Amino acid sequence: MVNMAKIKSKYVCQNCGYETAGYLGKCPECGGWGTFVEETISAEKKEFVTEVVDSVPPKKLSEIEMNSEIRITTNISEFDRVLGGGIVQGSLILLAGDPGIGKSTILLQTSGELCKQSKKVLYISAEESATQVKLRAERLGVKSDNLYIYPQTNLELIKKHIDILQPDLVIVDSIQAIYTSLIQSSAGSVSQIRECCNVLMQISKSKNLSIIVIGHVTKEGNIAGPKVLEHMVDTVIQFEGDKYKSYRILRSIKNRFGNTSEVGIFEMGANGLKEVINPSELFLKEYNRTQTPGSTIIVTNEGTRPLLVEVQALVGTTPYPAPRRIANGVDTGRVLQILAVLEKRIGLNLSKQDVYVNVIGGIDVNEPAADLGIALAIVTCVRDVIFDMQTAIVGELGLSGEIRAVNHIEKRINEAKKLGFKRIIIPEANEVQESFDDIEIVKVQRIIEAITKGVKTPHQ
Ligand code: TYD
Ligand code: MG
Repeated sequence: MVNMAKIKSKYVCQNCGYETAGYLGKCPECGGWGTFVEETISAEKKEFVTEVVDSVPPKKLSEIEMNSEIRITTNISEFDRVLGGGIVQGSLILLAGDPGIGKSTILLQTSGELCKQSKKVLYISAEESATQVKLRAERLGVKSDNLYIYPQTNLELIKKHIDILQPDLVIVDSIQAIYTSLIQSSAGSVSQIRECCNVLMQISKSKNLSIIVIGHVTKEGNIAGPKVLEHMVDTVIQFEGDKYKSYRILRSIKNRFGNTSEVGIFEMGANGLKEVINPSELFLKEYNRTQTPGSTIIVTNEGTRPLLVEVQALVGTTPYPAPRRIANGVDTGRVLQILAVLEKRIGLNLSKQDVYVNVIGGIDVNEPAADLGIALAIVTCVRDVIFDMQTAIVGELGLSGEIRAVNHIEKRINEAKKLGFKRIIIPEANEVQESFDDIEIVKVQRIIEAITKGVKTPHQ
């Protein structure tokens, strides 16, 4: 173990936070090339850390009060849902997302809502001037004397004003722009980010104060640069979406106090972000008009809410020696497995075919229940037939071509019914407890059965 106090400088991988004493061309941890940057550390660090930690002494298990977690609800229901029912008091939350996606906007709106409930919010604006924040606030209709804007980048000063103001919520916009004078490397470097996050964590835990930290995402899609941040905070939520389209998806990636993979959907307008109460409707807006072979509707269950989304597949003869397989919104490995099953079990020859799979709406579908829908999109594209437009699909595809049960089946059926679907294909193995009218439930055991039952009319 190297004695840290003696090291005046170290080299830190800006991608994953790996540290060494000397320069390395390639990072042994994440494999990145040329990612090491020299960073200096000062010896004062220890005192500061000890001072804060000491304020929470050890307690006997029996002495710990069983308060159920206190949550601050923001009245923005999509935001609350992603956090598992509101901001847990004393938690440190990281809101990550691409620059310009709307992170400052949503947090300023959230601040506005909380101030309406007489909560005191301190908004640290490390990237923008107070005037810029004020301009945005006017646009969003946020005005309150409980909202304090503090354009500051120095963490020690931020800490001082948290002590003075005693707010209910602190927002740090952004973690990449603030620095602590304990470390000499520049703001935004891995060491700075990590140390600042560490100090914020201690402030949050010792004062039982909720802090939301904004973090920009790098080109590679990591929460900039360090993944380390994710491990340190209680909750990580990510703001995603196509900058050229108006809707945004808020997703929970890690949550010590709730469900992950929960999503909230917003629409960006002239006066800020609005919640989308019925997202399935939004995702299916263009469905009926663009019905072509290779398109199916699946019912995915993101977090606690089912969502209907359209899956499209395009299959065509490849001009390349090795065919391309490209997947957007679903895992490529999963698509490869589905292709292998289709080749082996129903004799679909795809060895000379490029395959593209796309989930419409920019949403990521990671659960296996989407398998059958993806498989049927591919099959209908290859055979040039249209899948019945009134039928939704759920089911996991096993390696021998069998359709496996999925969870929350009733919820999924209900959502399909709500959106006006007349039929839903589900796995035979799923037992449906409730009875449904207005929607026909078609149970299938094998992939071939799903194809014959789902495909209605030959194309043309
Ligand atoms: P912003 O919250 O500044 O993004 P971030 O903090 O993630 O970098 O939002 C920037 C974009 O949002 C910008 O392109 C303008 C747009 N926008 C609207 O369309 N409507 C609004 O009411 C606001 C405040 C911003
Ligand atoms: Mg911003």
